[in-house]
Amino acid sequence: MAEHWADHGADHGAGRTVTVDGATVPLRQGQTVAAVLLGLGRSSWRSTAAGRPRGLFCGIGVCFDCVLTVNGAREVRACLRLAEPGDVIETDVPR
Ligand code: FES
Repeated sequence: MAEHWADHGADHGAGRTVTVDGATVPLRQGQTVAAVLLGLGRSSWRSTAAGRPRGLFCGIGVCFDCVLTVNGAREVRACLRLAEPGDVIETDVPR
């Protein structure tokens, strides 16, 4: 199978993982927490008081739509926070 151009030289993070809502998932070097979640097919990970789904919106740290809990710290912006091996990521809408 041919290597995809976007994977050329990519670090697939062998052996590095994070936990998302209790599930262990692989981590690529340089991924933000939002990128980890998007890679899992998650487009939303919390909901508003009115029950509307929220996830990545601005992607630059302005809107705060993407906040979640990382290593017990609440209100972390997933679009800005680089994921680190061993991080425990908790969403408000677990799957
Ligand atoms: S997506 Fe807007 S602050 Fe993260």
